[in-house]
Amino acid sequence: MGEGINDYTKNIVDLRRHMWMAGIELELRRLIWQIAVVGKYISAKIHESNRKLAGFKNVYGEEQLALDRVSDDILKNKLAHSGFVSHYASEELEDIVAIGKGNEQYIVTADPLDGSSLVDTNLAIGTIIGVHRKSIFDTGRNSMVAALYITYGPLITMIYSAGKGAHEFVLDREGEYVLSEENIRLKEKGSIFSPGGLRKDWTDPHLKFIDKLETDGYKLRYSGGFVPDINQVIIKRGGIFTYPALKKSPNGKLRLLFELQPMAYIVEQAGGRATDGKKDILNVQVTSVNQRSPIYIGSAAEVAMAEQYLSQ
Ligand code: F6P
Ligand code: MN
Repeated sequence: MGEGINDYTKNIVDLRRHMWMAGIELELRRLIWQIAVVGKYISAKIHESNRKLAGFKNVYGEEQLALDRVSDDILKNKLAHSGFVSHYASEELEDIVAIGKGNEQYIVTADPLDGSSLVDTNLAIGTIIGVHRKSIFDTGRNSMVAALYITYGPLITMIYSAGKGAHEFVLDREGEYVLSEENIRLKEKGSIFSPGGLRKDWTDPHLKFIDKLETDGYKLRYSGGFVPDINQVIIKRGGIFTYPALKKSPNGKLRLLFELQPMAYIVEQAGGRATDGKKDILNVQVTSVNQRSPIYIGSAAEVAMAEQYLSQ
């Protein structure tokens, strides 16, 4: 006899069961679940776009909306009907928008399709989500209650944290998010580095820091996609990703609200750290939705080393 459905389900911990067992509050559990479901729709759109074959035209020959716009619409619509979200802020929109009735307890931030320019290269891309209570114009430390990201690669994986550790799930063939790693913990020190920006634009202290990593034998791992690059640091249990202050852009490139805060939240929950060079990313005050910040994120030893170089 083959494996029955009960044998299959009793051996897996799916996302909903995991959040329930972790004692995460009902509305937050439902919200995270709905976002994870949107990840399935976004991945279907990525497949549908079939860029290599159709050149971004659909089967009727119509030009399709860019994938990042489509992903944003799907996410915004789903959250607007969730009943838990009052406001939505996205990298695709100019400003934060009211999507609920006003009495809902959560505000969601999104980078709906990070690294969308990598779609044609068939490298991994992702969705990054932050969940805040009350206001986003605060520090992440005060306002964030959860974060998650989905990686669309050879497999679709999702890491979430609702303040009780960071956990990885894999989307299986049955369309279920199945627990693959619970309570991920970074080591004190790793062996890979992922340096954003051009060497000619780096500041002197940053250049010296990267030189030191190279001298110490750290291996270069940079795909140009924030999600897979961070995911690599997390899954390999350490190392560092940086997108530093550049000579002509002192705030670097990456967005505090949509990209950095959610990843900092997850990495801290996994025992790592994230700093802008001086302050923890989660202690930086958010004053505008499009705020950017330099970032050094990963295992504790490398982040401390970065702080030391930058203070000189
Ligand atoms: O969202 C911005 C982004 O595409 C990130 O995914 C990535 O880490 C970064 O930009 C790459 O920047 P660059 O092309 O300068 O290396
Ligand atoms: Mn992005």
